[in-house]
Amino acid sequence: MRRISLALATSLALLGLACEKKTTPVPSPAPATPADAAVAQAAQAESDSILIGEVGSLTGSEAAFGITTRDGIDLAIRETNAEGGVKGKKIVVRVYDDQSKPEEAASAATRLITQDKVKLILGEVASSNSLAMAPKAQEAKVPMITPSSTNPAVTQVGDYIFRVCFIDPFQGFVIAKFARENLKLNRAAILKDVKSAYSIGLTEVFERKFTEMGGKVIDIQAYSKGDTDFRAQLTALKAQKPEGLYIPGYYSDVGIIAKQARELGLKAVLLGADGWDGPPLFELGGSAIDGAYLSNHYSTEDPSPRVQNFIKAYKEAYGSVPDSLAALGYDAARVAVDAMRRAKDLTGPSIREAIAQTRDFPGVAGTITIDEGRNAVKPAVVLKVEEGKFKYVATVAP
Ligand code: PHE
Repeated sequence: MRRISLALATSLALLGLACEKKTTPVPSPAPATPADAAVAQAAQAESDSILIGEVGSLTGSEAAFGITTRDGIDLAIRETNAEGGVKGKKIVVRVYDDQSKPEEAASAATRLITQDKVKLILGEVASSNSLAMAPKAQEAKVPMITPSSTNPAVTQVGDYIFRVCFIDPFQGFVIAKFARENLKLNRAAILKDVKSAYSIGLTEVFERKFTEMGGKVIDIQAYSKGDTDFRAQLTALKAQKPEGLYIPGYYSDVGIIAKQARELGLKAVLLGADGWDGPPLFELGGSAIDGAYLSNHYSTEDPSPRVQNFIKAYKEAYGSVPDSLAALGYDAARVAVDAMRRAKDLTGPSIREAIAQTRDFPGVAGTITIDEGRNAVKPAVVLKVEEGKFKYVATVAP
């Protein structure tokens, strides 16, 4: 064995391959380690492509949010590159998983900014995660567009932070109004997630709006994201006989809450918001979710060709019907591309300026005009859960 390798080494040396002696200087030295190779490759890629970043929950309690958002973004970028990209360059997206945790979202944003030097960041979905990322983007003057974080504080972090969706004071108003005027509810209760900026904000809006419209919020109970037993709170609520129970939480908790509520015999109409959107809601909640109403960003039943073409393309690419996160991920990426095309160059300030000037952009989840607060002002839809599906009920304009 040894003899053979020795013999091979000798013949390679004779051929001048094994220990080639470089006599002429090479313009760019061959990478010494795999890490150097990766850096060299990235530099090469950067010259003929534009790198943007994405932070999402691909694992953890809100994994469904991150996965469909990523697919929506992916579809938009594929279409963009097929059209020739931006300023003659292809767009490349570097995606980091934050495991559904704010502190991970913040460090992913930092990595995208300092290490990958992305031109722009897309993300996050959950408002608490976007709130953790936004100061990093703002400080570095790297524009950030959240597809779907609805808590008002997110874009208030600074002038580099944008969103392509409506904000919670609006969706909270929409469902409170629907509960009062259409469902004619007088007495409502709320079950809120005290660990979520989104849930806390919506609780406050619903309570205020429902009360202003002549209804009464008789009790507010609390839980923490990730809890699995809600029976104590639900038993307390049941005793007060609310006609409606507003649960401004995420699908992973809401599915279990709905099931336990029905098991305990709580009869109130369940009311929710966009955070319910994720297929596991139906797996966790089963028929307990039926009959509930929620506010959301778009309806797959919208007959407009813009929406139906998007649904068709998404289904062909990913094999499922796009939820509102996929639609908003797609829209956020499309708005980013449109702004980069219009921007005078690809520096942070120029891209920021172009995003701020977005007007009447034809999104699949509604037409997008970025207002002074860097939010999109657009209608919300009210959906009803029927046999494990969201059914379109109404559209409410701001
Ligand atoms: N609006 C939610 C938040 O801000 C996120 C979300 C949007 C969830 C759309 C589902 C669908 O936290």
